[in-house]
Amino acid sequence: MLGIKTVFTEMLGIDYPIIGAPMFLVSYEELAVAVSRAGGLGTIPLPNYRTLADLKKALESIRKATDKPIGVNIHLSGKFPWKEQLALCLDYGVRFFLTALGDPRLIANEVHACGGKVFAGVVSLEQGLRARNCGVDGLVAVGAGGGGHCGSIPALILVPYLKEKVGLPVIAAGGISTGAQMAAAIAVGACAVIVGTRLIATSEARAAQAYKDAVIAAGPEDIVVTDRITGNPASWLAKSIEKVEKQPQLGSKRWLDIWSAGQSVAQVGEIKPAGEIIKDMAREYSEVCRCLKNTLVP
Ligand SMILES: Cc1cc2nc3c(=O)[nH]c(=O)nc-3n(C[C@H](O)[C@H](O)[C@H](O)COP(=O)(O)O)c2cc1C
Repeated sequence: MLGIKTVFTEMLGIDYPIIGAPMFLVSYEELAVAVSRAGGLGTIPLPNYRTLADLKKALESIRKATDKPIGVNIHLSGKFPWKEQLALCLDYGVRFFLTALGDPRLIANEVHACGGKVFAGVVSLEQGLRARNCGVDGLVAVGAGGGGHCGSIPALILVPYLKEKVGLPVIAAGGISTGAQMAAAIAVGACAVIVGTRLIATSEARAAQAYKDAVIAAGPEDIVVTDRITGNPASWLAKSIEKVEKQPQLGSKRWLDIWSAGQSVAQVGEIKPAGEIIKDMAREYSEVCRCLKNTLVP
């Protein structure tokens, strides 16, 4: 299989421009390790770890399993001990920081001094320009139809728009779960893709079996976008919301049973090891590029 080289693979020293999405309560050490080992970039969201000791243990276990690059999603708000989290991550060789909430300037210098990169997730040009003023190295275009908090502009439109107007490398997120979709994103200028929903149905994801099964069973029509759950627009499996709302006795634990997933459930047919998904995507990407070339007539 041919390798895939982009600005992002060169920046991070990885084989494929495929990032395993940070997913709250879903992506932990095992998933990140599997993605990185397969040649992509595995990530974890730091809010998954309640204490610094838990985070340290996780980083240690990742480092025991692989010396390949990994990334984190760091929340730069007063609610989180981000300074201590940052120091720990840098100590354990994390070199990719995806920011959410707060000002990326708070970490940019320290990350850069260690040779790392800071990318900001954005859903609009206004957010992209603001992130550029904060000294980020690139943007994640969070498009419509993606899992978790999502945007309203399709990634295939947002990526070239941001790339042109902001002038930074742009990663595509939202609705990308196959090599063909990845080829489309790279064709419109993305330097890498983030894959979330597809990786929920993997052996390494820490989602409940029923959640994985629901992702497999769902079609894109079963996804609802609402701000009712977290206060910001996010994608959910509609049936999981309906079920929880019928059982108010679940109380504060109810959010554990409200499952996030994006419209790319359309392409999820079975549970697979995450590494296989990354390698399959890279293989399919190469095949699609070859096929597209064959459509050209002299
Ligand atoms: C269950 C779930 C949890 C998520 N949690 C986070 C998170 O904690 N931080 C974050 O930056 N993005 C989070 N996201 C968004 C993903 O990082 C990514 O942008 C998105 O899943 C990409 O779209 P896709 O699901 O269509 O692949 C989450 C997505 C899902 C599906």
